[in-house]
Amino acid sequence: LANGLGITPPMGWNSWNHFNCKIDEKTIKETADALVSTGLAKLGYQYVNIDDCWAELSRDRKGNLVAKKSTFPSGIKSLADYVHSKGLKLGIYSDAGYFTCSKTMPGSLGHEEQDAKTFASWGVDYLKYDNCYNDGSKPTVRYPVMSRALMKTGHPIFFSLCEWGELHPALWGAKVGNSWRTTGDIMDNWESMMSRADMNEVYADFARPGGWNDPDMLEIGNGGMTKHEYIVHFSIWAISKAPLLIGCDARNATKETMKILSNKEVIAVNQDPLGVQAKKVWLKGDLEVWAGPLSGHRTAVVLVNRGLRHNRITAHWKDIGISPNKVVEARDLWKHKTLKTRFMDNLTATMASHSCKMYVLTPIS
Ligand code: DGJ
Repeated sequence: LANGLGITPPMGWNSWNHFNCKIDEKTIKETADALVSTGLAKLGYQYVNIDDCWAELSRDRKGNLVAKKSTFPSGIKSLADYVHSKGLKLGIYSDAGYFTCSKTMPGSLGHEEQDAKTFASWGVDYLKYDNCYNDGSKPTVRYPVMSRALMKTGHPIFFSLCEWGELHPALWGAKVGNSWRTTGDIMDNWESMMSRADMNEVYADFARPGGWNDPDMLEIGNGGMTKHEYIVHFSIWAISKAPLLIGCDARNATKETMKILSNKEVIAVNQDPLGVQAKKVWLKGDLEVWAGPLSGHRTAVVLVNRGLRHNRITAHWKDIGISPNKVVEARDLWKHKTLKTRFMDNLTATMASHSCKMYVLTPIS
């Protein structure tokens, strides 16, 4: 969407994966505090996004959305002011239907201009727009209405389409929003996570600065996967130029969680100015090579072992888009080490079950 936002994939936090409907202004404020105190904000995690369940079920007499009195007594404007005072941005959530998915609050269908104005007047910086309880018309009809309404406010609002990939949003999303979900909801387990990655990969060609494929938010830190599975999760999201929206309780993140989410080198791949989404360029059974170009003629590679046994994977230059006789230097992004050996034509690594290696390859001379 030509609103100047999402030039690199958005980074931040969202309440849904960990808290579902159990949110309030205290949790949101404490999360903003935590993003700053842990250093995550400095690494680029700037959006603090409230998901479903923040509003009263009934609009006010003028038809405006109202924040839920019991959980957001100070209102969204004051929350936005707080989040902004921390140098962060506030995201909110609505739905292109009559109710949001929780059915605890109204959707914006038929109220697009009014709600966009409300969000803008509160200083909201990001809108995630869900697809529940709609009127049966196509998302290609309903989503552009909100997109235009947001543009009309004159306030820059990142627009995140959440129609779950039903009508191939990669094909029309770039004109309407800054990101579009390509899948149904992620769950905090290996199979769900890897299947989101696969479904999202199909649309790699449609990602570009200003409009990104979204395989759903991160589950890192929620406890359902092993450390190595979470490292695969973060590596694939990063190389796929996916939004990096933390989905755990950022106030109580463990050291292990923090280490994964704070890997600067992996974040740099995600935020690379070239903005080209990686593809699965080779696979044999459970073994896969994902690769994509970076700025400066570099190449990002993730070798993934999806199988149950320890295994060896080779990335061949012909598959990852490097000319055959190019000599490269390989940086291991999880070991934070540049390998002593230089590589020509291919690179091989071994890895345990459900784990990966991630490299940046830089041509020598
Ligand atoms: C469905 C979306 O896909 C989720 O990410 C979340 O926003 C829920 N709805 C909220 O009800």
